[in-house]
Amino acid sequence: MVILKEEGIRLSVPKTVFFNPHMRFCRSFSSLFIGALDAELCVLDGMSACGARGLRYACENSNVKKITFLDLNKKAVKATKANVKKNKKSFKARARVINSDVNLFMHEHSGKFNFIELDPFGSPLPFLYDAIRCLSKLKRSFLSVTATDTAVLCGANSKACVKNYSSKPLNNEFTHENGVRILLASIARIASFFNFSTTPLLSLSKRHYFKLFICFEQGADAAVESAKKANGFVFYCSKCLHRFPSFHPLATSSCSCGAPLDFGGPLWLGELFDEQILKRMLELNEERNYADKKELASVLSLMLEEARLPSFYFDLHKIFKNYSLPPKKTQAILDALRAEGFTASRTHFIPTGIRTDAGIKKIREAIKSSSGV
Ligand SMILES: C[S@@+](CC[C@H](N)C(=O)[O-])C[C@H]1O[C@@H](n2cnc3c(N)ncnc32)[C@H](O)[C@@H]1O
Ligand SMILES: [Zn+2]
Repeated sequence: MVILKEEGIRLSVPKTVFFNPHMRFCRSFSSLFIGALDAELCVLDGMSACGARGLRYACENSNVKKITFLDLNKKAVKATKANVKKNKKSFKARARVINSDVNLFMHEHSGKFNFIELDPFGSPLPFLYDAIRCLSKLKRSFLSVTATDTAVLCGANSKACVKNYSSKPLNNEFTHENGVRILLASIARIASFFNFSTTPLLSLSKRHYFKLFICFEQGADAAVESAKKANGFVFYCSKCLHRFPSFHPLATSSCSCGAPLDFGGPLWLGELFDEQILKRMLELNEERNYADKKELASVLSLMLEEARLPSFYFDLHKIFKNYSLPPKKTQAILDALRAEGFTASRTHFIPTGIRTDAGIKKIREAIKSSSGV
């Protein structure tokens, strides 16, 4: 048994129950998200393990009115019951702890939750249908979902991605954004079966995982629009690094440089972030004293910068290498691009990435003309 504290929450974790201390950042990020929502929440922590995540949500956010902790593992349920008792004085929400299979439970409790948290080992796919069905009786609801099958979504095993997500991944410099967009497309497709439109509010890529926060709203017309956004492609030239999104699967087979074009998709070609939520999370982070406060502020600010910029970031290191250019400072290149009238920002996806509406030719010119070494 390990006894520990995370952001003031006291936890006892038996050896056979899962707890990953490295996910503290993710739990803090998610708790900020909950706090930034302008809604009273009835939360299902569908894979609660020792209860760390759900307890953080309830103790840190007064808009969590009810919370159900659930896990398949009996020992996890026992540990969660003890942890809920230990922290009872720190939250007002009505709490209960249940031992069940999350799919069975969601199937039988349709309409009872407006916020579902899914934090599985590996892919969330086997749980998405029942989760969205469970939310489908409400006009508006939220899903928070973790995926740790990033190797599959990022194309380390292309066949597995085609099998699981019906989508072709790209194992290139923007593979993480591509992976997030493939997962989002699967979610939006399932949601549209239930007349739900899909609005991704935040898309986090970090270490070995993706964390997505999505808002679903009832309405056939908006659901059609989401389903369309889930049916996009990206075309990519590994020789000159040109890339472009397209809703047409057969946009073209060769690049203007003469090399063949590769493609990824179907994938989500809509937005990845909501600026209002990001701003509220930044404010909340200032008020809270999380151990990861600095890193949270940095990631949220990067997301705010990249929120409105074009999809499929460039990797400056890849461009330096590909074109044998002497490396320059990212800030100087961003300044040079902006001086030419282009939009340009960093991205939280990779430290050497930039988003811009400039094409590869203009980026090369900006690298050459910028002074910062
Ligand atoms: C990655 S852990 C969750 C970690 C936790 N959310 C946290 O932040 O500490 C995944 C949990 O899902 C549980 N689990 C796996 N399959 C399940 C299922 N079908 N229904 C309910 N729980 C399940 C496992 O027992 C495990 O405790
Ligand atoms: Zn090319």
